[in-house]
Amino acid sequence: MDKIIIFDTTLRDGEQAPGAALNQKEKLDIAFLLERLGVDVIEAGFPVSSPGDFEAVRGVAREIKKCAVCGLSRAIPKDIDAASQALKKARHPRIHVFLATSKIHMQYKLKKAEDEILRLAVKAIGYARNLCDDIEFSPEDASRTEKEFLYRVVEAVIKAGAKTVNIPDTVGYAEPKEFGELIKSLKDNVPNIQKAVISVHCHNDLGLAVANSLSAVQNGARQVECTINGIGERAGNASMEEIVMGLKVRRSSFGVKTFIHTKEIYKTSRMVSKLTGFVVAPNKAIVGLNAFRHESGIHQDGVLKKRSTYEIIKAEDVGFKVEGMVLGKHSGRHAFKERLKKLGFTLTGIEVDEAFEKFKLLADKKKEIFNDDITAIVQEDIEGKIPEVWSLDTFMISSGNRIQPTAKICLVSKRKIFEGVASGDGPVDACYKAIEKITRLKCQLLDYSLQSVTRGEDAQGKVALRLKAKGREFSGSASSTDIIEASIKAFLQAINKIEFKK
Ligand code: KIV
Ligand code: ZN
Repeated sequence: MDKIIIFDTTLRDGEQAPGAALNQKEKLDIAFLLERLGVDVIEAGFPVSSPGDFEAVRGVAREIKKCAVCGLSRAIPKDIDAASQALKKARHPRIHVFLATSKIHMQYKLKKAEDEILRLAVKAIGYARNLCDDIEFSPEDASRTEKEFLYRVVEAVIKAGAKTVNIPDTVGYAEPKEFGELIKSLKDNVPNIQKAVISVHCHNDLGLAVANSLSAVQNGARQVECTINGIGERAGNASMEEIVMGLKVRRSSFGVKTFIHTKEIYKTSRMVSKLTGFVVAPNKAIVGLNAFRHESGIHQDGVLKKRSTYEIIKAEDVGFKVEGMVLGKHSGRHAFKERLKKLGFTLTGIEVDEAFEKFKLLADKKKEIFNDDITAIVQEDIEGKIPEVWSLDTFMISSGNRIQPTAKICLVSKRKIFEGVASGDGPVDACYKAIEKITRLKCQLLDYSLQSVTRGEDAQGKVALRLKAKGREFSGSASSTDIIEASIKAFLQAINKIEFKK
């Protein structure tokens, strides 16, 4: 089975993404992760572009032993010299020379004719070959280059000593069928093509970078240039994790393999995200937070019965350690029961039903239910074995910085509604005074704490309190997404304990 060379350009093209600048230490940290990941080539930077980039490439070249380390260069001696200098200590150095070949680039950017471009490309490869054995050449904007001219350039640079010819879709204009055909046409029209590895470098302006790269592989490309999380110039490059997992999961279709240690993918992705400050979208394939999570009850039920019903990749295979089931309003009883078991609760069927009902009510208020939410629900149920002499029906508070906080509370007891209104120092104090009025119990609050029990903007707040009444101490706790409601329920729990004692 043919091997696909994974050429990672996170530290070069990836770092070209606006706002993604990495310092030398950060580049080295990522390079170590890329080495662990098993990439074949690390393009560490563009040495001539700045002293910082020169040093960064030098540092990576010095430290990285298992991968080839590459430096980018325009087709001019000054750049090639800088790349060669920066790569001096590399065990496997590679210089990547590029020169635009499309009409639009030649005419407007370079102001040079075809023959001049051809001459410069050959000259640059000859120059680079004297400094480094492993030379890659990229005819920039290849996908928009006149085919006949592209064939001539590719043939000439291979003759001059380029070992890899990289075909960039620089502006992300190609579509998969056309790009695949371009690669095939190089094989059919460049007489010495078998002397070089065909590489591809696709940008994602139309969201087709991965599809174009895979189509190129199907048509004979054997190196893919890509970046972690797909970062790069403008809309980015082909995402390495998608390329690698695409080739792995659909191995029988592609008939090729990579030597990437896929279990290192997630860690590397997070590190790149952290150091560049580029957040990974939750729905991003392979490395997004939701990539392996199921929320719909039907999907969860299917996955619990047989994982492959809704999963084509195991989260562990890319180093993802998440709770695959997201409990939320679409979740079913099956998934809920499984989670209870995982959390160590052994409940009877009726208890599960009761807890599930509460879970569904909570899920209507809260996007995602975490383990702590479930624990809070079940523990409240256990506390709930104390008879509810008083329970909350409704509450209303008015509060503000220039008005006295006032609460109107309606409690239910023996199927009757009791109403109380009171003012206090704050909204919670007003609620407690209103409850005291209704229940005719005088309580002294000894302790009150409010804690967020779960994560997220819609986290549940847990109130735990202690109060003194009739010479004894009672505790109460409750959680809710509304902290006033949690405060009232915690207070009522303690009151019910007093009534129970009575
Ligand atoms: O997108 C591009 O064409 C490039 C080249 C330098 C390979 O990044
Ligand atoms: Zn690029």
